[in-house]
Amino acid sequence: MLNNIIILLLVINLAVLVTYWRKDQNKVYAVFVFTILFLFGATIYRDTDTEWKRYQQDYKKLLIEKTKDPEKRKFIEGTPLAVKQLWNADIKVTDRCVTCHLGYDNPEFADAPLPYKYHAKAREHDLNKIGCTICHEGQGTATEKIDAHARGIPNWDNPMLPLNMVQSSCGKCHPEAYEEGKELKGADMLNLAKRLTVSNKLEVPCITCHTIKGVGETLAPDLTEFGSRTEHEFELSHDLSHIDGEKNMHGWTYQHFLDPQKITPGAPATATTPASEPTIMPKFDFTPDEAHALTVFVMGLKEDKIPGKYKYKPRVEPKPKAIARFQEAISHEEFEKLPFGEQIFIHYNCWYCHTLKGRGGKIAPDLTHVGSRRDRDWIVKHFKNPRSVSPHSFMPTFRFTDEQVDGLTDFLVSLK
Ligand code: HEC
Ligand code: HEC
Ligand code: HEC
Ligand code: HEC
Ligand code: HEC
Repeated sequence: MLNNIIILLLVINLAVLVTYWRKDQNKVYAVFVFTILFLFGATIYRDTDTEWKRYQQDYKKLLIEKTKDPEKRKFIEGTPLAVKQLWNADIKVTDRCVTCHLGYDNPEFADAPLPYKYHAKAREHDLNKIGCTICHEGQGTATEKIDAHARGIPNWDNPMLPLNMVQSSCGKCHPEAYEEGKELKGADMLNLAKRLTVSNKLEVPCITCHTIKGVGETLAPDLTEFGSRTEHEFELSHDLSHIDGEKNMHGWTYQHFLDPQKITPGAPATATTPASEPTIMPKFDFTPDEAHALTVFVMGLKEDKIPGKYKYKPRVEPKPKAIARFQEAISHEEFEKLPFGEQIFIHYNCWYCHTLKGRGGKIAPDLTHVGSRRDRDWIVKHFKNPRSVSPHSFMPTFRFTDEQVDGLTDFLVSLK
């Protein structure tokens, strides 16, 4: 819009210059001065009226509507608009996505429209620690939507994944998503594809020809890092001329699963290249959903770049015959019958420091009646970080999931 006005003004300037230069120079100067003033104003406007500021203003309005406390409202009104970012040098994340995706961490925005909507998915993860692009890709540092999402821009290395491809990022930190016999919750496509790589209609496992993560044969390309290539690298090494629709890595891979011979049909010899045969990869008769799941799966086979401490480590749940309940053993059956919170209490040895019902350590407060002096909120905050409510506490910050905190808190508030 602004650009069009500026172009129009320049055209008018030119027209006035040509028509009036010899007749009435004052008119020409008047138009020039007006144009310069207008351009000056436009520059200032451009600088202040950026896309993200508009989103932040809208978000502020929504936030104020949802806030009842007048003090808090005033505080929100007074906070300046600013670029927000999640930063983590360990995993090379500088994500400004939250400059627009402002409600991602606020459950009150569960029903809000995008981009203000609460991020209800993947809540097992601390999004503030790992950012957004680790799962979604895209250009983290950008603050304009087109650049941040980076879709459909030719030769851009990291276009943001469509939502139905996000699972191709899970394997970066969940190696078990690619291990036989294991399942990752929330990654139904990976789980389905993994089964198909071993057992499909033809009963031909992929590793009959391919190597995947060090296992398999060398009749066909090694797939271990299939998904590490950029769009550009892929286009240089693959013939995209036989695919329908958008010509990109995703299209090639998906359609190749549906019909390998159509996508890699071979070619007669030319002056510079020898003849090639159609591919020997069989047509497995995959359904579109299966082909999509396999595409997500192979695109997720990536070079291992994430430091160990950010990866998922399965918790080892105790399955011994008897469990020590502070100087008293109980059977596994008895343990299973206890409330979930009490199981965690036992599993994490809270007795080591605390006394409960006459037993346990003496270096921390007796918890026998803790429910009568502490409420839910306090206890939850305390678990998330004991120092936030008891500044000098030496109680460790346990890495509990929300579910575990809930269970433990239920148990503790019941101790009256
Ligand atoms: C300038 C504001 C802005 C920035 C910066 C931004 N987004 Fe968005 N995003 C939006 C808006 C607005 C929508 C709603 C849908 C639309 O308009 O395209 C959206 C939609 C989305 C969607 C869901 C819909 C879809 O198209 O798949 C995802 C996922 C998403 N953004 C992720 C990200 C990530 C990851 C980043 C950072 C790399 C990011 N966004 C940066 C404004 C932004
Ligand atoms: C651990 C992986 C992970 C991280 C980190 C992550 N997301 Fe997501 N996100 C997902 C998954 C999974 C979905 C759901 C995809 C689907 O619809 O199948 C999703 C969905 C979304 C959507 C669409 C929501 C809707 O209801 O339409 C947006 C927008 C989005 N994410 C933005 C972000 C932003 C912004 C961040 C950073 C604060 C972020 N995500 C971080 C995994 C992640
Ligand atoms: C940056 C690495 C990373 C990525 C990417 C990632 N996760 Fe995780 N995930 C973790 C870690 C670490 C945990 C353990 C909880 C914690 O400490 O945050 C976890 C926990 C989980 C859990 C809970 C498991 C349990 O036993 O409690 C599920 C389910 C899960 N992730 C699914 C996914 C899915 C699905 C994706 C892809 C959309 C994904 N994760 C992507 C690192 C990651
Ligand atoms: C009989 C041998 C054979 C079997 C079995 C086979 N493939 Fe292939 N595959 C090939 C050959 C040969 C190529 C290379 C030529 C082509 O098709 O483009 C290939 C190419 C690929 C490619 C593209 C690789 C690249 O870097 O270009 C992917 C992805 C792939 N196969 C996945 C699979 C999966 C997943 C399975 C199991 C469901 C499988 N293949 C089963 C022979 C096989
Ligand atoms: C290394 C010793 C230690 C361990 C292990 C420990 N705590 Fe604590 N805990 C403390 C100390 C010290 C305090 C008192 C300071 C404070 O409030 O944090 C405390 C306080 C508490 C309080 C608040 C008590 C009150 O009356 O204010 C609760 C509840 C609690 N712990 C629960 C637990 C649970 C549940 C576990 C096991 C998951 C556990 N603690 C493990 C040292 C420990």
